[in-house]
Amino acid sequence: MSFGWGIISTGLHPDNKIAPAINAAADAELVAVCSRDRGRAEAFAARHQASEAYDSLDAMLSDSRIDGVFIASPNSLHAGQAIQAARAGKHVLSEKPMTTTLEDALAMVRACRDHGVKLGVGFELRHNPGHILACELVENGTLGRITLAQGQWGFGNRGQEVFPPREGLRLWWDDPEAIGGASTMMGTGVHVMDLLRFVLGQEIVEVAAITDGQTAERPLEQIATLALRFSNGALGTLVCGRLLPDTQNDLDIYGINGRFTSRETVWEAQKGAIQVVSDSVNRIEEYPETYLGNFIAQTEDFQRAVAEDREPAATGMDGLRVVEVTLAAIESARTGRTVRIDQVEV
Ligand SMILES: NC(=O)c1ccc[n+]([C@@H]2O[C@H](COP(=O)([O-])OP(=O)(O)OC[C@H]3O[C@@H](n4cnc5c(N)ncnc54)[C@H](OP(=O)(O)O)[C@@H]3O)[C@@H](O)[C@H]2O)c1
Repeated sequence: MSFGWGIISTGLHPDNKIAPAINAAADAELVAVCSRDRGRAEAFAARHQASEAYDSLDAMLSDSRIDGVFIASPNSLHAGQAIQAARAGKHVLSEKPMTTTLEDALAMVRACRDHGVKLGVGFELRHNPGHILACELVENGTLGRITLAQGQWGFGNRGQEVFPPREGLRLWWDDPEAIGGASTMMGTGVHVMDLLRFVLGQEIVEVAAITDGQTAERPLEQIATLALRFSNGALGTLVCGRLLPDTQNDLDIYGINGRFTSRETVWEAQKGAIQVVSDSVNRIEEYPETYLGNFIAQTEDFQRAVAEDREPAATGMDGLRVVEVTLAAIESARTGRTVRIDQVEV
């Protein structure tokens, strides 16, 4: 039987990627979409062959054909909508960042747990085959003790001195409250935080961030560099930004016994190449580009997690840990100090 999906919000991400991925995924059906505006919901539903268009979340959540919701609204709305969905017995796959506050993250994890529904987060980089290989090489000890992990996700346009302000329905991206007190860190930085945690199997316990924002005059940064310490002592660096034309979005993992390098894998589309250099494994792989590959894999993984009653690839706790790191990075950038992270218990 197909898994019935309802999408919350009609922005660029669900329009370009999530709805097409659901339509391309096995055993998935896009049942409905919910917007604040009925006309927008109807147009989106027509574009993506969804059966229903709702202008009320309550109404969509009472649709018995819907098994789970995909939350693609502005960042600060994820928690409230997720809790509403959990109460209605719907599984929740939320976009990143999972929430903009730790209180919201805790409430979201607890609500989904208490109502017996799965909670996943849209960290699609976990589905790139190169990243999965990196994870295996670290876990099985091929690279030896990991000393350094580096990840970058940026983009930009040549000749653009400043990133242009958003317009219309995308205005929330420039509203510190709605986006969560950081811009490029909330946009792509959170993906790299999660990727480094995923590959190393370790938590980030200390962060020092230098950004071009987090000041009274310029609250939202457009470029950020983070120095990280992991729970097993490894160090890391993370770069994200919107003023990086021709960027190479790579992942590099250095261990005592070898190195894993990926080129251009840190991107929404599934693509890129990897190289492994070590005593036991020496390998080069290239992945053909598929625009929706990571999102189809994410959709199918979440559905299997529900069917098999297991956790999805990126869980609510992964989302919560990344919220902790992001808030620490914002504090570090604001104060000029290194910030230690004590992981909260749920
Ligand atoms: N995983 C990824 O790679 C990835 C990539 C891009 C974005 N994202 C995440 O996906 C989410 C949506 O991003 P997007 O690029 O689709 O955003 P977007 O294009 O700006 O669209 C957001 C939508 O939210 C609704 N909205 C806008 N302002 C609102 C407000 N003030 N109050 C309530 N609803 C409002 C609107 O839809 P309606 O009014 O029709 O509901 C709007 O179309 C974000 O959390 C973002 O971080 C993830």
